[in-house]
Amino acid sequence: MFTTLLLPTVVTTAFSPAYTTTPRLKPLNAVGIFYSTTTGNTETIAGYIQEATGLDEIYDIGSVEASTFTGFDGMICGAPTWHTGADEQRSGTSWDDVLYGWMQEADLSGKTIAIFGVGDQGSYAENFCDAAGELYDVLTERGAKVIGFTSTDGYDHDDSKAIRDGMFCGLMCDEDNQYDLSAERASTWISKLKADGMPF
Ligand SMILES: Cc1cc2nc3c(=O)[nH]c(=O)nc-3n(C[C@H](O)[C@H](O)[C@H](O)COP(=O)(O)O)c2cc1C
Repeated sequence: MFTTLLLPTVVTTAFSPAYTTTPRLKPLNAVGIFYSTTTGNTETIAGYIQEATGLDEIYDIGSVEASTFTGFDGMICGAPTWHTGADEQRSGTSWDDVLYGWMQEADLSGKTIAIFGVGDQGSYAENFCDAAGELYDVLTERGAKVIGFTSTDGYDHDDSKAIRDGMFCGLMCDEDNQYDLSAERASTWISKLKADGMPF
């Protein structure tokens, strides 16, 4: 009786397949989320994006090697703006060193990139999320295709260097004035990125 009860367990183990989990259909490193921050707001938005995508990790751009960045097929890149009105190095975070450091040697041809900016349209209405436009310029110069443009409707700013052909060149968030809209904006944007071909 004792032997009979044990037998099914032994048989099951002996004939188990070599793997026990469902094989992944996508490469492990298809899409990476990269951000930099001074007071934490851009990290908050990166967190909303991580939640909407289900990706395991978010990367501080100041703490990664070039090869980590370029190892992804798609990148979601976020920056705040601190250097108001500057022509270059508008973010005031690690992005400034990265964009004019190792990024200048990076080959981003074939990469799909989406950009998010974080700023304050109330106090900096003439320069809302300017650094996002700089990311767009540098990353497209390196050969990347940028997707995920959004409408400027629903914002109250006067000007922004992140506008291309009448649209924001990515998702813009404002944790100072519209923090209650950010999570929903991020979730809607990720759905759009999926439809537009971000290789999740
Ligand atoms: C001195 C200073 C300059 C700023 N300049 C701008 C600006 O030019 N454009 C903008 O949209 N926001 C500007 N901001 C607002 C920040 O970008 C905003 O608070 C952002 O959420 C900060 O993100 P972080 O916490 O990720 O660093 C500025 C804030 C300060 C205090």
